[in-house]
Amino acid sequence: MNDYVIAIDQGTTSTRAILFDHAGSIVSTGQLEHEQIFPQAGWVEHDPKQIWNNTREVIGQALSKANVTRHNVKAIGITNQRETAVVWNKTTGEPVYNAIVWQDTRTQKIVDRLADGDVERYKAKVGLPLATYFSGTKIVWILENVEGAREAAEAGDLLFGTTDSWVLWNLTGGVDGGLHATDVTNASRTLFMDLETLSWDESILADFGVPASMLPEIRSSSGDFGVASDASLLRETPITGILGDQQAATFGQAAFDKGEAKNTYGTGNFLIFNTGEEIVHSKNGLLTTVGYKIGDEPTHYALEGSIAVTGSLIQWLRDNLGLIPDAPAVEQLATSVDDNGGAYFVPAFSGLFAPYWRPDARGALVGLTRYVNKGHIARAALESTAFQTAEVVDAVNADSGVDLTELKVDGGMVANDLLMQFQADILRVAVVRPVVAETTALGAAYAAGLAVGFWANLDELRANWQEDRRWEPQLDEAERERTYRLWKKAVQKTLDWVD
Ligand code: G3P
Repeated sequence: MNDYVIAIDQGTTSTRAILFDHAGSIVSTGQLEHEQIFPQAGWVEHDPKQIWNNTREVIGQALSKANVTRHNVKAIGITNQRETAVVWNKTTGEPVYNAIVWQDTRTQKIVDRLADGDVERYKAKVGLPLATYFSGTKIVWILENVEGAREAAEAGDLLFGTTDSWVLWNLTGGVDGGLHATDVTNASRTLFMDLETLSWDESILADFGVPASMLPEIRSSSGDFGVASDASLLRETPITGILGDQQAATFGQAAFDKGEAKNTYGTGNFLIFNTGEEIVHSKNGLLTTVGYKIGDEPTHYALEGSIAVTGSLIQWLRDNLGLIPDAPAVEQLATSVDDNGGAYFVPAFSGLFAPYWRPDARGALVGLTRYVNKGHIARAALESTAFQTAEVVDAVNADSGVDLTELKVDGGMVANDLLMQFQADILRVAVVRPVVAETTALGAAYAAGLAVGFWANLDELRANWQEDRRWEPQLDEAERERTYRLWKKAVQKTLDWVD
């Protein structure tokens, strides 16, 4: 019987467990979606209990599909939607409120108050501007709005975690001695971690009014996170890797070295550019974040271009407009027309993230004429993903002083041929997809497997990476310039839109 590593991928729309073999190939997958809760405009929540129940179930699915028991699983890696905040009671194990999701914009007033006119006041230390996106402001909202939460937090009864910590704490025993920890990549998305020291910054916590006792211990991405509890199907299996999902995808793409990058097409898009051991501060609207840390080895840092809405725009076409029966159908609808018919769709549903960082922006569909049909709208929606990515790549090129020569891609939308071709056309560089497009889960498996010797070193992981397909730019340059210019005009409309 072969040995495997299992990755738990706790994402924004679903939770998956994937078993990987030594070649880095997928052996089996368990997957369950969880409810997206929208109590008000701009609010997005998840039920943490549902997430934990789904986690247990998908582990069972993955093991039984492969006909494998815990004895063949050498390590567990966890990867997660980042910034989504859970606060729970450590004695009862009950969340005090739903998880507040990274896309949620309810904390804008808290941001304004803390910023006091300067959203960049902590940026030199933590790499991030003050924004609703990051988990720190979400904790403040819970402490200020959930009855009894502040008192309980100050009495040391409440714990905070992003969903990696929530899953880890439950998997390692919960109220019976669960481990309250996170890794450096997730910690770097809170607004509280000093990028140099990799520890929580007391003065920022004081400004936010968040008791340090709520926060998880920060550990390396690849290393010891305890063992699964007796109550789980993976009893006594070591948990040895945690990476935020975008950093995990970078790891799964084997982009370990300075100058390497990847772009993931998920609910949103996230481009990560490895800056090696150097902390680089962006002058062009990118975030500075931790890339990964293996054991006691030096920390790797990265620049990140985060885009809030890409794949979720396709879900919106499906769920809110009923334009398509399922997400993959968008490609067929978009290919029913030759071009966007003059329509540009800027999906600023959570404001605009990189490179603008404008929470007040709101979505716009512009350039409409009587000629425009649903095919054009589908096309404009797909093109918006490529245009937003191009703006982030421009920022990366400007910050690094060197132009990217190709873009490694992964995530659900890379199955979309039309989008990938248009991406190459707009970027004017090749877009390259690996054989294993599930790089997020793979990266978490790699981090876990490295720590237990399942994989010997990074070179072994690099050797697993294989190209599946490559798209070369084809679009005429004058046409590229024209359409990109019109996109930027459309973005301007969303920035001018003030309530
Ligand atoms: O920063 C948010 C990101 O981690 C969410 O990723 O793939 O769950 O949409 P995803």
